[in-house]
Amino acid sequence: MCQHAYMPVITVAATKGGVGKTTLAYELAAALGGVLVDLDWDSGGATRMWGYDPTSFKRAPLLDAVEAGPAVLPRPRRRRNQPDLIPSHPDLAASDIPDLVIGDCLSSWAKQWDRPVIADTHPGANALTDGAMQVADLVVVPVILAAREMDALAGMLNDFAGYRLLLVPNMVPPSPPRRYVERLAELAGDKPVAPPISEHRWMRRRVRRSALTLQPNPGRQVQRVAGELRTLARVVEEHCV
Ligand SMILES: Nc1ncnc2c1ncn2[C@@H]1O[C@H](COP(=O)(O)OP(=O)(O)OP(=O)(O)O)[C@@H](O)[C@H]1O
Ligand SMILES: [Mg+2]
Repeated sequence: MCQHAYMPVITVAATKGGVGKTTLAYELAAALGGVLVDLDWDSGGATRMWGYDPTSFKRAPLLDAVEAGPAVLPRPRRRRNQPDLIPSHPDLAASDIPDLVIGDCLSSWAKQWDRPVIADTHPGANALTDGAMQVADLVVVPVILAAREMDALAGMLNDFAGYRLLLVPNMVPPSPPRRYVERLAELAGDKPVAPPISEHRWMRRRVRRSALTLQPNPGRQVQRVAGELRTLARVVEEHCV
């Protein structure tokens, strides 16, 4: 659990899709004992990963809570070996929630829950991601060491120069391509770069719904990635202070 006077809002965001936002948000929420708030209305968000089908529910807990105002606390869904979740809903796509409103809600919920809030986001610019980034104590940015992804990162670093960003090299192959490692160091400038998360190909085929960092009897494969993710969680905590 975070050792803060107040609980941080940690937003996981990237301009590019498929870079590992949801996986990192889900695992960070689990490792930090936080509440995962899914702001991605698409199926690429944390809600599906968690195993909650929002289309089978009429009500959207996140929308209801935002409409009620920051003082009203939504109740996180709970399941063993998974982070507590405020699920998303397809209706969020057309919701027109202003950035300031979602930002106020996230900050207020972190205080009232007295737990870190970890927000998963839809890729690219939109009001929900903007709001979650504006109030974040730290924006965690997964970075793939490849040409297009690095170009997207360059644009993001330019647009969000004043933000507290932590760059996380993600899905890093056993022999990382040197030119992209160097380009990342150049682009990062004074922004911190976290220790990398390796590429674990089996993760793409995974069907089991549980956080890697919360598995009670992990095998060797899981231990390896869980170790990397726990290290990342410690680095995230250090940068939230
Ligand atoms: N370290 C890793 N090694 C290998 N595969 C990974 C790793 N991290 C995530 N993945 C896989 O990469 C794919 C994309 O990850 P994820 O859904 O977290 O990305 P995303 O940025 O949230 O995508 P979207 O933009 O669609 O929301 C998933 O299949 C996931 O299992
Ligand atoms: Mg996602």
